[in-house]
This record gives sequence, C-alpha cells and structure tokens, in this order.
Amino acid sequence: MPLYKTIVHNSDTQIFVWKISETEAALNATIQLQDKHLHRLNGMLSEQHRKGFLSVRKLLNEAGYTDFDLNYDTNGKPSLADGKHISITHSYDFSAIIVSSQNVGIDIEKQREKIIKIADKFIGSEADFLNIEQNYKENLSVIWGAKEALYKMCNSRSLSFKQDMHIHDFTQNINQGTALIDCKELNFGCKFMFHFETFENYTLVYALENE
Ligand SMILES: CC(C)(COP(=O)(O)OP(=O)(O)OC[C@H]1O[C@@H](n2cnc3c(N)ncnc32)[C@H](O)[C@@H]1OP(=O)(O)O)[C@@H](O)C(=O)NCCC(=O)NCCS
Repeated sequence: MPLYKTIVHNSDTQIFVWKISETEAALNATIQLQDKHLHRLNGMLSEQHRKGFLSVRKLLNEAGYTDFDLNYDTNGKPSLADGKHISITHSYDFSAIIVSSQNVGIDIEKQREKIIKIADKFIGSEADFLNIEQNYKENLSVIWGAKEALYKMCNSRSLSFKQDMHIHDFTQNINQGTALIDCKELNFGCKFMFHFETFENYTLVYALENE
C-alpha cells in the first residue's frame, strides 16, 4: 500500500504514515541508498526490520527528501541535510516520520496486552489518573508512546521514563495532552505537548516542545 495517512499538524510540521503491505522487493525496487545505509540494511536479519527501514525511505520521498538527505548522530538520532528536524518510528505493519523546523519526536506502537505487564517500569506520576477499569491498555499505550517520543527529542540524555517524565492527565481529551520532563540530577526541565491517535490497533503519538 502507498502512503496510509498524512497529518498536517500545521504548515511547519507534518506527519507521514506508511502501511507496510508490499513485499520487500517491491519496497526496494525504487529506492537508492547511501552506502552506509545499504550496509546497515544488509545487516538486518529480520525481514520486518528491513521492510520498516525501506518504508521510511518511501516516507522520506513523500516528504520531498531521499535517503541521501538523512543522517544519524552517534546515538542514532536522525537529522535532515536542510536543517529540518525529523523523527522516525516503525512497528510491525506501520512506519511513520514527522518533519518540522522545530524539535519533534514520534512513536508508533502496536497495542498489546504485554504493556500491562511492564507498566510498573514506566508509570510514575501517571498512576494518579490511570484507571485499571477504563481503557487501561489504550491509555498505557499513549503514555509509553509519548515517553518514547520525548526520549527521541532529548538528545539521548539518561532520563528515567518513570521518575523524570510526567505525562499529565489526557484521558478527558480526545487526542492531545501535555507533558513535563523534570530531571534534577541532569538539571534538565522542559514542557511538551503531544498528540495521539489510534488506527488498526496501533497508537501513534507525536510530541513537540510546548509552544
Ligand atoms: C531509541 C529508541 C527510542 C527507539 O524506539 P523503538 O520503539 O525501539 O523503535 P522506533 O521504531 O519507535 O524508533 C526507531 C527509530 O528511532 C530513531 N532513534 C534511534 N536512536 C535515537 C536517539 N538516540 N534519539 C532520537 N531518535 C533515535 C531512529 O530513527 C530509529 O529508526 P531508524 O534507525 O530505522 O531510522 C528506544 O530503543 C530507546 O532506547 N528508548 C529509551 C530507553 C527505554 O526504552 N527505556 C525504557 C524505560 S522503561
């Protein structure tokens, strides 16, 4: 399938989502890669990873870029040659990118029961508003996605998902919320806003620094 969805957050920030339903050969057919990225692709043991990687290049094309515009820092954070910010995510059948002139982060997750088992590892202050009886798995998926998106925006600082990242109660809102990173040890604090939506049992979250 080609592009699954485009979200125009505003004239500066766009999100592109791909549903990966092609074969690997079909995805590969039209894509040119930098040598270092070809090397990386060839080292991926899982077909699912290779398809996720290739579909991101399709999304780059949709956004007006190619693989040759994409670079990574030593921590794996991607950037674009024209100075715009980009964040990348893939999960099973979907991949997504967000492109903006401001710092942004994105995460897509398949909703799975497993998230309930690992909730204690990443839920901190959010326990105050979470209700086990009400959309628990869905709300945990939003919190996890928001924290992953924030992590991707924070230049690989060693932040604790549980202690340093605080997602404020979003459960009365349809698709957005606010968050705070407050890490005294690293003397780092920042406010964010995030947006989320679900489709086909996946949760997509993207975050921006609070405007
Ligand atoms: C790096 C990390 C955020 C990737 O998230 P993920 O859910 O495993 O995978 P996603 O598909 O959503 O994201 C992968 C993309 O993130 C991007 N990425 C990798 N490292 C990054 C970094 N340091 N900063 C920003 N973006 C990064 C890359 O673009 C990568 O895709 P690509 O290499 O194919 O281009 C994640 O592995 C991680 O380290 N999380 C923080 C630690 C953590 O999980 N703590 C849990 C506490 S309970």
